[in-house]
Amino acid sequence: MPTDKTEKTTEKKKSAAEAKPEPVKKAKAPAEPKTEPAKKAKAGAEKKPKAVKVKKPEAAPDAAAEAPVEAAVPPVETVPAKVEPAETAPVETAPVEADPVPDTPRRSVAFIGSECYPFVKTGGLGDVMYALPKALVKHNCDVKVILPRYRCIPWEYQQKMVYRGAFGMDLCADGRSYYVGIMEYVWDGVVYDFIDNEEFFSSGNPYTNLVDDIPKYCYFAKAALAALNYMDWIPDIIHCHDWQAALVPVYLRTLFENTKLSRARAILTIHNLKFQGVYNIPTIKYWSGLPDYVFNKDALTVNWVDANMLKGGLTYSNAITTVSPTYAWEIQTPAYGENLDAHLRYHAGKLRGIVNGIDYDIWNPLTDKNVPHNYSAADVLKQKKANKRALQEELGLQVDEGKLVIGLISRLTDQKGLDLVNAIMSQIVDDYTQVVILGTGDAMYEDSFRYYENAYKGTVCSCILYDEARSHRIYAGADALLVPSRFEPCGLTQLNAMRYGTVPIVRETGGLKDTVEPYNMFTNTGNGFTFDRYDAGLLLDAINRAKTLYFENRWCWDEMVQRDMEKDVSWDSSAAQYKELYLQLT
Ligand code: ADP
Ligand code: GLC
Repeated sequence: MPTDKTEKTTEKKKSAAEAKPEPVKKAKAPAEPKTEPAKKAKAGAEKKPKAVKVKKPEAAPDAAAEAPVEAAVPPVETVPAKVEPAETAPVETAPVEADPVPDTPRRSVAFIGSECYPFVKTGGLGDVMYALPKALVKHNCDVKVILPRYRCIPWEYQQKMVYRGAFGMDLCADGRSYYVGIMEYVWDGVVYDFIDNEEFFSSGNPYTNLVDDIPKYCYFAKAALAALNYMDWIPDIIHCHDWQAALVPVYLRTLFENTKLSRARAILTIHNLKFQGVYNIPTIKYWSGLPDYVFNKDALTVNWVDANMLKGGLTYSNAITTVSPTYAWEIQTPAYGENLDAHLRYHAGKLRGIVNGIDYDIWNPLTDKNVPHNYSAADVLKQKKANKRALQEELGLQVDEGKLVIGLISRLTDQKGLDLVNAIMSQIVDDYTQVVILGTGDAMYEDSFRYYENAYKGTVCSCILYDEARSHRIYAGADALLVPSRFEPCGLTQLNAMRYGTVPIVRETGGLKDTVEPYNMFTNTGNGFTFDRYDAGLLLDAINRAKTLYFENRWCWDEMVQRDMEKDVSWDSSAAQYKELYLQLT
């Protein structure tokens, strides 16, 4: 998950002098200046690049005078740029699904964010950046996803990217021209444009520490807009995600105000308010090159001395969304507002919550290649037992399909309520109950779960690693899944769990509250077990209620399993809500 976990340390040391100028390739030019990428994907043919056509925006008054817009899209180092021929990297042209396109007007949308499955994912943001654009294509949207080209993106994708062009861009007070390369990949009707710059994106992990991340995402936000201008692709909507892309609306309304892009409406989606991109004002001012007037208390400034990139984005965007209605409400309270509750209350008129979905092609127990025994709601009861046995064997647990297997798949951080789990672990495990943990994160939690595995050999298994394939096998083989989060903007693991007939046990917060209806023993309705106050005793009570139903009233449990599998947790209705928002704004 996006993180700026690292404490502030020293100011960014890299000075202008140290920074090596990026060799801008002498090249032919970007592919067609005006493209309709989704359509091109269908056609499956990438045209040969033509001569560079660098847009010089009209003269920019005021803000632009301090940091001229044209500098954002300047000619390439005064040398005519050339584009490497694209023939070595064919565009992947998976056919766009033939689903009927809903009858709403077409809108073009640029998604800008810091991660996207399967290229790079550290948490749910990566899932959403992949699945939502794909779902929007089916709602008559033309979508481009703009991402950093991190070095850690697997080679299988890197080699398929097509070079779209490069230009130089000014960024900060050092006056240098920074290289911006555009590498393109088209897949499932969505165009992915990767911003290439080795100086910023060459570390192994997308997020390292704030000292490096602040300049990295200042650069990314500006380069993303400059790339749109360069490609002459002017979307109706620019949809930004989390603090890493939060400066985009700020740039849009300042340094890019006099470019064609400024007609686009900006949306900022908060996936996790905890991370805001906060650093001292001089550093952010230096790296962003933004005009002085945005560093005021209504926009970027917090605590008189710091600048908050997320806060600036919230101020300058036309609409703010977050990933569930309950979280949209919670973040306006001091308890969940992470010091931005007053700011969010001020902007409440443009704030709304739209719950996430999951991608049904990836999360489908009937076709999932990672699952040993595929199943649907019709045969889940039989096949889940087979998957449970396979999971127990794989993880070295006692093989017994009669036991209740409780899974936990999570980043191991304070957000996820793991101190509650630690507090009651010895009361969860018994002769009939096993626990499987899959996660990485804070050493404190990694170590405590390792301890429990050791203390309860054959009953507890702690997989301290990140493993997509294994996560699918746990969703398929476990009976229940714990999500006792302290706060949870949406949460995807409970959705994956329900889709795989695994009963969620969740705290009633954020998206967990919006997606898991509590089991009602009198009406035999609901999707899982829930508790409200953040309290280990209440979590234990919820787990015990689950155990009671599982062991004493299996018929009702089994019905819940089938109900969960049939619940609609797809992107369909949420993508329709985003589309409606796009239409309202344009
Ligand atoms: P967050 O984004 O806060 O981490 P979400 O529930 O929104 O939480 O998304 C987490 C995503 O990451 C889910 O798709 C989940 O399956 C996946 N995930 C989390 N930890 C692991 C892990 N250790 N191995 C594989 N997948 C994981
Ligand atoms: C964040 C949140 C999580 C949400 C995800 C995708 O990482 O922690 O609750 O599901 O973003 O929106």
